[in-house]
Amino acid sequence: MKATKPSWNPGRFLQTLTYFEVIPVLNWFQQLFQSSTAPQPTMTTTASANTVLVVGATGGVGKRVVKQLHDRGYSVRALVRDLERGKAMLGDDVDIIDADITLPETLTPAVVKDIRAVICCTGPRVQPKEGDTPDRAKYYQGLKFYMPEVVGDSPESTDYQGIKNLLHAIADPLKAAQTNEKILFDFTDHSSPDPSPPTPQPPLPALWGALDDVVMGGVSDSTMRQIDHAALFTGNVSTANSGGFASVRTRNLEPALNLSGYEGVKLRVKGDGQRYKFLMRSDDKWDSIAYSHSFDTTANAWIDVHIPFNTLIPAFRAKTLTDAAPLNANRICSLQLMLSKFEYDGNLNPLFTPGTFALEVQSISAYGRPTMPQFVLVSSAGVTRIDRPGINLDEEPPAVRMNDQLGGILTWKRRGEEAVRESGLPYTIVRPCALTEADGGKQLTLDQGDNLRGAISRDDVAAICIHAIEQPQACNLTFEVRAEDTDLAVHWTTLFDQLQPDR
Ligand SMILES: NC(=O)c1ccc[n+]([C@@H]2O[C@H](COP(=O)([O-])OP(=O)(O)OC[C@H]3O[C@@H](n4cnc5c(N)ncnc54)[C@H](OP(=O)(O)O)[C@@H]3O)[C@@H](O)[C@H]2O)c1
Repeated sequence: MKATKPSWNPGRFLQTLTYFEVIPVLNWFQQLFQSSTAPQPTMTTTASANTVLVVGATGGVGKRVVKQLHDRGYSVRALVRDLERGKAMLGDDVDIIDADITLPETLTPAVVKDIRAVICCTGPRVQPKEGDTPDRAKYYQGLKFYMPEVVGDSPESTDYQGIKNLLHAIADPLKAAQTNEKILFDFTDHSSPDPSPPTPQPPLPALWGALDDVVMGGVSDSTMRQIDHAALFTGNVSTANSGGFASVRTRNLEPALNLSGYEGVKLRVKGDGQRYKFLMRSDDKWDSIAYSHSFDTTANAWIDVHIPFNTLIPAFRAKTLTDAAPLNANRICSLQLMLSKFEYDGNLNPLFTPGTFALEVQSISAYGRPTMPQFVLVSSAGVTRIDRPGINLDEEPPAVRMNDQLGGILTWKRRGEEAVRESGLPYTIVRPCALTEADGGKQLTLDQGDNLRGAISRDDVAAICIHAIEQPQACNLTFEVRAEDTDLAVHWTTLFDQLQPDR
């Protein structure tokens, strides 16, 4: 008797294209006639410590740090002393909290909740002795000399005791947030009754859809579904009709994952002894280059599969590409798990067996992120010059010349720096020269040894603080900085690379 050829299912073919919005019109019709409550795909990262706390957020540098962080997509919390003023100045998009670093009791758990880094731009209030305008125009202009005085809290209480209070409040939460891993998908505890579950994920079918060889006339069939403590990628893979693969792929992630700084992706899986593939795309087009890694499973054993980005094989429809750019880890648009008869370029998967298969996945994480600075302090150039033997005070900026009249402002900033260095947190200490209101984007000169003179805009200081928390090279650096007259796009890694860490 002649064997019946398995028949291709055009319905499933259309379903696949519709799910991935390859045919958007069909998708629109489907949504029209299906339940309007169908869950939409959303990003599913773990709600880990991800907020940057800006202290001194109503100051000249602080308000720019808040704005630039916000523009770069950070979640920002602004610590201010006056809530109403803070709201008026910083807007509604920022989480504003009132506290005072000289009053430890105000540095509550709400201030430090979910923070991953702190940028501290506080300082005692300096103004001309004859007084300033309500918007502090004389102080902010930065270059024209006036006879200054400190009003309000002393430098000792702000720049030293306040910094110590702040470090005391934030050190433990920041240390707890130090992680070189980021969980992207946690399938272990999907139905947790915990009121603050770590992974607010949509149901699996809303994000992961089957993409089987039905798109090429095959009859394989797979799905990804939630089981106890894992997601299960399972189905039947058939080589009939010249097919031979089953896979599940995410819809395009919104927003795309930014995994820059990480070494690769780690899968925690339990398989059936077959060889699977994990694929990533940094293009949101349906039919685009997939960066692929094959991994072997051990039947019924949980294993961690590490997939370094630099070992991924660029392939288009399982044909390797020799001239493709490496994966853009800043923008991962979709992920895919696959069981295929083929490896690459027509070679066979040596561990492949047709029929039913099962791969359990507990988690997908990014791993290998180097340590980044967690505490950035805006200090000042000159802090070590005040008692330097042989220094010619006439050549020094006013704060150095008038340190004693200003309540030892630089002395206490230096003590504050020491407290930061002793905190055990990865830090960056920025010592700007005279601050101005000029536009940023200038060429920056960084130096160590506290000899630099000149000026720099508050815009540029804010940019330095933000890039510091993104650069492992900025860890444990203390440096002075001034701006030059020329505009120049800064290459931050190179800039920090030229400096020596304190320890
Ligand atoms: N001016 C210069 O030429 C120069 C040069 C080098 C370094 N620096 C230093 O650079 C830093 C930033 O300068 P800037 O011009 O941005 O200063 P700023 O405008 O005076 O800002 C200081 C900020 O610190 C806040 N603050 C003060 N005491 C506080 C406390 N106890 N608790 C919480 N917040 C407190 C202030 O809050 P309020 O708004 O409530 O007052 C303000 O937001 C300062 O440390 C400054 O000394 C200045």
